[in-house]
Amino acid sequence: MLDSVTNRPELPPEIARRRTFAIISHPDAGKTTLTEKFLLYGGAIQMAGQVRAKGEARRTRSDFMQMEKDRGISVSASAMSFDFDGFRFNLVDTPGHSDFSEDTYRTLTAVDAAVMVIDGAKGVESQTQKLFEVCRLRDLPILTFCNKMDRESRDTFEIIDEIQEMLAIDVTPASWPIGVGRDFIGCYDLLRDRLELMDRADRNKVAESISIEGLDDPKLAEHVPAHLLEKFLEEVEMAKELLPTLDPQSVLEGHMTPIWFGSAINSFGVKELMDGIGRYGPEPQPQKASPRQVCPEEKKVVGFVFKVQANMDPKHRDRVAFVRMASGHFKRGMKLTHVRTKKPMAISNPVLFLASDRELAEEAWAGDIIGIPNHGQLRIGDTLTEGEALRATGIPSFAPELLQTVRAGDPMKAKHLEKALMQFAEEGAAKVFKPSFGSGFIVGVVGALQFEVLASRIEMEYGLPVRFEPSQFTSARWVSGEKPAVEKFINANKQHIATDHDGDTVYLTRLQWDIDRVERDYPDLKLTATKEMM
Ligand code: G4P
Repeated sequence: MLDSVTNRPELPPEIARRRTFAIISHPDAGKTTLTEKFLLYGGAIQMAGQVRAKGEARRTRSDFMQMEKDRGISVSASAMSFDFDGFRFNLVDTPGHSDFSEDTYRTLTAVDAAVMVIDGAKGVESQTQKLFEVCRLRDLPILTFCNKMDRESRDTFEIIDEIQEMLAIDVTPASWPIGVGRDFIGCYDLLRDRLELMDRADRNKVAESISIEGLDDPKLAEHVPAHLLEKFLEEVEMAKELLPTLDPQSVLEGHMTPIWFGSAINSFGVKELMDGIGRYGPEPQPQKASPRQVCPEEKKVVGFVFKVQANMDPKHRDRVAFVRMASGHFKRGMKLTHVRTKKPMAISNPVLFLASDRELAEEAWAGDIIGIPNHGQLRIGDTLTEGEALRATGIPSFAPELLQTVRAGDPMKAKHLEKALMQFAEEGAAKVFKPSFGSGFIVGVVGALQFEVLASRIEMEYGLPVRFEPSQFTSARWVSGEKPAVEKFINANKQHIATDHDGDTVYLTRLQWDIDRVERDYPDLKLTATKEMM
């Protein structure tokens, strides 16, 4: 049977109830606060305040390092699972800082939807827009939460207009705020005809929810002061005339976003948003792979690695590969094929991430995210199957925008440095190039802060102080083509050639002019700024 909205086969109930999503927002819009309330209502934490510490730690660079030191916190924040109203939510964290856009991009390949949080006073900010564009590349459905309505915020129409114009997406109100700033008393839930009243006295109290028989119900006047009611009714009438009504199909296609208004810190509007994610958010979607896509309803298990995090637990010095289950029903102990090496792997201690603890995952369904501790076998882009030679596609690796050479403070420790660098390359935290001429390594990143984080991690995890220094090169391009053509090119350009951690050939240069020249002189070669991770 086909589902009437998605045009896809009806999924087994265990899979159909899964919602796997990320939150995208500009720093300070309220992502951490909202996450915390999700976990609270999902029963994953008992008390407000457990996630907050992390949000505050993000504020400064040194605190960021501190957070990196305390890997326990960032582990649990990478992927969190919780239940709400019959749904299983898998929330995947996106790194907050704009320097980590590549990591963010890969994270967004593992989710089926995004919740966009904006600050009601600030509207669409730069990082919101960037992240939105990444979601758009994949037509991800987006649900919007307009936060901080308890404070002085912009006019509701103005916020909606700004989203429509800046992000070129239809916006449909799921709720409508009543009053602004100090006068804000709550929202009218337009999808379920309920009045939700905020309790300013108790931040942790969930809103009082009153059932209303439509907008002409006299009950409204009992709860809403006359001066607010008149304006509210006028606005809703205008909204009905001017704004599109909710079209679930359009939401699933990423063309329309429903918007909820609320205040995460006051626990207001959060449950309605969660309900919306359940009702209008997508079920687990087919995943791109070669030579064919993988559908969640397939019986056999397929999963792909979208993130690797090393040394999360200093006591164990392990690595965890984060795997998005693309199909089937996984059970602990299963033997899967590691497609890249064609070797079997017994997955005996997979972990599921529940807010503050790791827990052994006895089973997982398509849509879930599990962590697989390993000793380096699993890399970003790797695929695990029950034998079929499938390869996840669409997980790109971007050419770095900044290159620096790196040296160990102690030259005797060069081998250790190589090991550390390879680990970070496999984690996807940096590109590492070994030039064919001379010694040492060139490290490439997307944002400057990554050099600081790398230096601090190499020192912390390997006890090795390092120095990053300017390199003579500023750009890197992967080289591909027929073997003789590549060899001829390598021989003629030795000073510019390096290999990456997979052994692939890279052309390093300082000038765009060089790249243009190579493209002109070597028409049989391809120079690319992205490489698919595999
Ligand atoms: P982020 O993860 O997106 O960076 O945002 P975070 O949740 O850390 O929130 C940023 C700031 O906004 C915090 O204030 C937080 O308390 C506040 N905030 C979150 N939601 C709301 C809301 O609905 N209304 C209001 N008025 N404020 C909200 P802070 O001053 O930086 O921290 P704190 O001193 O409050 O802990």
